[in-house]
Amino acid sequence: MLTITRRATFAAAHRLYRSDWNDARNEAVFGRCANPGGHGHNYVLEVTVGGDLDPETGMIADLKWVKEVMDRHVIDHVDHRNLNADVEILHGVIPTAENLARVFWHRLVGPISEQARLVRVRVQETENNSATYEEP
Ligand code: NI
Repeated sequence: MLTITRRATFAAAHRLYRSDWNDARNEAVFGRCANPGGHGHNYVLEVTVGGDLDPETGMIADLKWVKEVMDRHVIDHVDHRNLNADVEILHGVIPTAENLARVFWHRLVGPISEQARLVRVRVQETENNSATYEEP
């Protein structure tokens, strides 16, 4: 399968915790990510799309267009924001990398399907940690 991938970065703050759990349980489950003051990450979002290769252009989709879709539907909502408090598309969601990948997929799948097929959404939280949502 032939795919193309566009990368974008955003900076955001988050805290992993459940308000219906006490501090000890939150810390046991989420570790330092449960610290009350929250903390920031420089996230990397990678969106992979597939589709038919246009023989005239040699392209599956216009990566500039993919970038615009990512900006409009995800990046503009989360960049330089507090993911727990200030982001409507994440309301009621614990902002783990897994949940970000899942929510971003659902934000992108409709718009991307206008010109291509959404194959994978990957959210990298740190150099060592990332989450991936792929179509079932
Ligand atoms: Ni974190």
